[in-house]
Amino acid sequence: MLFEGLDLVSALATLAACLVSVTLLLAVSQQLWQLRWAATRDKSCKLPIPKGSMGFPLIGETGHWLLQVFSKIFSHEALESYLPKIQLVIQDTLRAWSSHPEAINVYQEAQKLTFRMAIRVLLGFSIPEEDLGHLFEVYQQFVDNVFSLPVDLPFSGYRRGIQARQILQKGLEKAIREKLQCTQGKDYSDALDLLIESSKEHGKEMTMQELKDGTLELIFAAYATTASASTSLIMQLLKHPTVLEKLRDELRAHGILHSGGCPCEGTLRLDMLSGLRYLDCVIKEVMRLFTPISGGYRTVLQTFELDGFQIPKGWSVMYSIRDTHDTAPVFKDVNVFDPDRFSQARSEDKDGRFHYLPFGGGVRTCLGKHLAKLFLKVLAVELASTSRFELATRTFPRITLVPVLHPVDGLSVKFFGLDSNQNKILPETEAMLSATV
Ligand code: HEM
Repeated sequence: MLFEGLDLVSALATLAACLVSVTLLLAVSQQLWQLRWAATRDKSCKLPIPKGSMGFPLIGETGHWLLQVFSKIFSHEALESYLPKIQLVIQDTLRAWSSHPEAINVYQEAQKLTFRMAIRVLLGFSIPEEDLGHLFEVYQQFVDNVFSLPVDLPFSGYRRGIQARQILQKGLEKAIREKLQCTQGKDYSDALDLLIESSKEHGKEMTMQELKDGTLELIFAAYATTASASTSLIMQLLKHPTVLEKLRDELRAHGILHSGGCPCEGTLRLDMLSGLRYLDCVIKEVMRLFTPISGGYRTVLQTFELDGFQIPKGWSVMYSIRDTHDTAPVFKDVNVFDPDRFSQARSEDKDGRFHYLPFGGGVRTCLGKHLAKLFLKVLAVELASTSRFELATRTFPRITLVPVLHPVDGLSVKFFGLDSNQNKILPETEAMLSATV
């Protein structure tokens, strides 16, 4: 009996010790996360950040003058000048996807596509294709470790991230130097040109370190989010062929996709794209139901009340984009993919400013949202007019939300080109085989 009592006591003691250890571990990791978060988001924070750490100074402390600079980078004129380049990069990519004999992993390929868009269009670097592939691999190592705990030990994710960042910065420095020396033959100003010019106008010539940080962070902001949204777009077009057909009808009606063939060649223009109402609804609906980023963090600057709860000044709060979209009373049948909810007749998002916020909201809203929407629209137009694509698996993959929303196995899809009559272009052997049947 006494022994049984002792067993019980030691079992309870072990349990208590376990609970204390887990709590301590959680507290320590939370502390580390907060350290990491504070260090990356707040420049005034005096925490000891290891040299070469993966802070995001540009995104984290977008100051007054930098916001004005960004407004130029993403202005209407700037977007108009990026548009033909974006279209070219997308057309090249879809051509490569279609000529691939097997199915491709859409999420992986979309990551490469957005990386290429950021490097070639946004930053205007003319890095040879082979070096670009290497830079992409290093970049992925950086992204895979960017949210690791800030424990700088050999073989830790943090150390791997720092190493990747150093290699990337070296590559970026080389590309920036080459670009600064060779300005001839350029027919448009890219975001990096505008960043350099505008910072001079604001009397703040950027150092090489600031330029490297700036370019890395622009790639970081554009890359995962846009790749996630591109993959979701392709998945929804596959799941909803009627939506794709309606999109094609709209393109035909606007002379972008001619009924007699000739898929969208030439260049698109911004006004042409903004006239495509249904396309806008499709992109909006993809971003509502499959918002790439779950939410964001803020520090409360002034005590306020929300639904009867007081939120004190100084608290860190998280706002959830996903929960907002899921619970917003304005959306009917929230789980149904229904682009028409954004049509002029229904405009479900018209009531309330903060029911629909795939790009965040307030003063720290996404600065690249117009570029992101433009990219997605061009991708949808090109997909609808120049590609036919089929799911290569029996069922659609599961979706995971971390670090950004994406299909678990990456979404396996077989792409085919289209001939001028919108028929599937078969590879030569396949075409011969079908001809004999
Ligand atoms: C579908 C694609 C994208 C989505 C869903 C998205 C979403 C977001 C969200 C939700 C935020 C706010 C985060 C917060 O509240 O803390 C944000 C911030 C930001 N985004 Fe995007 N983004 C996308 C594409 C882009 C692109 C293409 C760029 C530019 C190249 C970009 C540049 C930025 C920057 C610079 C910020 C920081 C703004 C600040 O802190 O003041 N984003 N983005």
